[in-house]
Amino acid sequence: MASFSLKPFFSLVITIWLSYGLALAKRAGMTRHYKFDIKMKNVTRLCQTKNIVTVNGQFPGPTITAREGDRVIVKVVNHVQYNVSIHWHGIRQLRSGWADGPAYITQCPIQTGQSYVYNFTVTGQRGTLFWHAHISWLRVTLYGPIVILPKRGVPYPFPQPFKEVPIIFGEWWKADTETIINTAMQTGGAPNISDAYTFNGLPGPLYNCSSKDTFKLKVKPGKTYLLRLINAALNDELFFSIANHNLTVVEADAVYVKPFKTSIVLITPGQTTNVLLKTKHHNPNATFLIAAQPYATGPAAFDNSTSAGILEYHTPSNTTKKIKKFPLSKPKLPIFNDTTFATSFIKKIRSLNSANFPAKVPQKVDKHYFFTVGLGLNPCPKNRTCQGPNNTMLTASVNNVSFVMPSSALLQAHFSNQSKGVYTTDFPANPQFKFNYTGTPPNNIMVTSGTKVVVLPFNTTVELIMQDTSIIGAESHPLHLHGFNFFVVGQGFGNYKSKTDPAKFNLVDPAERNTVGVPSGGWVAIRFLADNPGVWFMHCHLEVHTSWGLKMAWIVMDGKHRHQKLPPPPSDLPKC
Ligand code: C2O
Ligand code: CU
Repeated sequence: MASFSLKPFFSLVITIWLSYGLALAKRAGMTRHYKFDIKMKNVTRLCQTKNIVTVNGQFPGPTITAREGDRVIVKVVNHVQYNVSIHWHGIRQLRSGWADGPAYITQCPIQTGQSYVYNFTVTGQRGTLFWHAHISWLRVTLYGPIVILPKRGVPYPFPQPFKEVPIIFGEWWKADTETIINTAMQTGGAPNISDAYTFNGLPGPLYNCSSKDTFKLKVKPGKTYLLRLINAALNDELFFSIANHNLTVVEADAVYVKPFKTSIVLITPGQTTNVLLKTKHHNPNATFLIAAQPYATGPAAFDNSTSAGILEYHTPSNTTKKIKKFPLSKPKLPIFNDTTFATSFIKKIRSLNSANFPAKVPQKVDKHYFFTVGLGLNPCPKNRTCQGPNNTMLTASVNNVSFVMPSSALLQAHFSNQSKGVYTTDFPANPQFKFNYTGTPPNNIMVTSGTKVVVLPFNTTVELIMQDTSIIGAESHPLHLHGFNFFVVGQGFGNYKSKTDPAKFNLVDPAERNTVGVPSGGWVAIRFLADNPGVWFMHCHLEVHTSWGLKMAWIVMDGKHRHQKLPPPPSDLPKC
């Protein structure tokens, strides 16, 4: 027998193979499987039982947890009478547009008895996002947190919290919301306002018949808690505060920000904000109110109620007999229309822009767009009476185009080159006629309608100015863009001035997010790189405005290279 051995050779091969595999595993992340059974469930709130649409009978729905780099696979099975689709709000969906979820934009809805598997990878993001239904008003009860942890072994750029707690804000109606929005769309009037706001599905003690449905945050003294705040409310921006405690904002829309202290957080529907709460050395049994209340600027009625939870310092079990009840202290929140507070808060949010987390702000712009966003009126159809002002129908638009939902999905039409009869590519890059957007509106502005999109070549850098209009009334509109994060490079009040305002843009460390409030009676400037092929919805995240047509879509064409193209649809993609 030859005395030399093959052993060292084999072990070398195995070592290389193992480390290659490990490196691959590290890079590729793991796969997380979830099953979402959409089903009805009786839930009692405000002393009234209601049959609501849920995921797996849970309300709020389950939390999706993943690490940056992981693949997430969610099988959604629809057992309810409604058509359903689920959106993974804020997930970039790089080359996975088929999994984005907005009904009739990237997919036909999942019909009763059908299922669809959402399959996407979390790339370059870490923090808090959320998922919600994306059809009609079903997201009123179909929502839950998405928690994206940093890659294994990568620390947060802030002190490691003792505990992490998602707090998802919602809005509760006693009546059936599908009936409410369908009726409103028929009559042209404003839909009924909600009856309560909720923390993790619970309205709290400030509503009638609700104190048993109170969110409690039990804490130990002298610890740091990471609160993952999510605004899943349908129609209302919210102020949030905890009595006697300061919060440190560390992340917004799954992007780290320069930490800053505040006692009040403003969060629009569609936004997420991570804050650190450092607990004090309080007496055991000390309790503090946690409260959320609306920030409302528009002309319409709104739910001006307060949702509350309780921050409870931990009681060592042996002292429970002698509980001395401390009176609840209440936090001070701004008045509902405090735009001064809102503006100063929003301006504090800046990208962390560190070596590890640079802000990649596009410095050059290929394409400029200017969109007006706001409300409007349409004439009442003949032989009908309408509930809008002076027998009109309320509507909303972008550049005076009220978006009409197609009856099949835009992404499928785009992918198969069959746009005819589904959409047109003539969405106006600028307002069709100019007026004093934030002054007295001209009396003859008829809103047009259509399914119009903007087409962008791959890797276009876009600058978009969104200008609020005062038609009907000025109002803050939280605009959300699918498929991208954008940089909020500037904002101001009144009409945008293209000569002087760009000089004030922040191109160094602006906030990077997926949802931004267009200031009431003002404008906001955003920039993004169109590096993600597909069809991407953009809309106001106040659901009532979306219903009225404050929405549009961008089509980003494939690039030249293979990894710049949208892959074909999965075989189980729902049909219309
Ligand atoms: Cu969170 Cu298109 O929405
Ligand atoms: Cu809006």
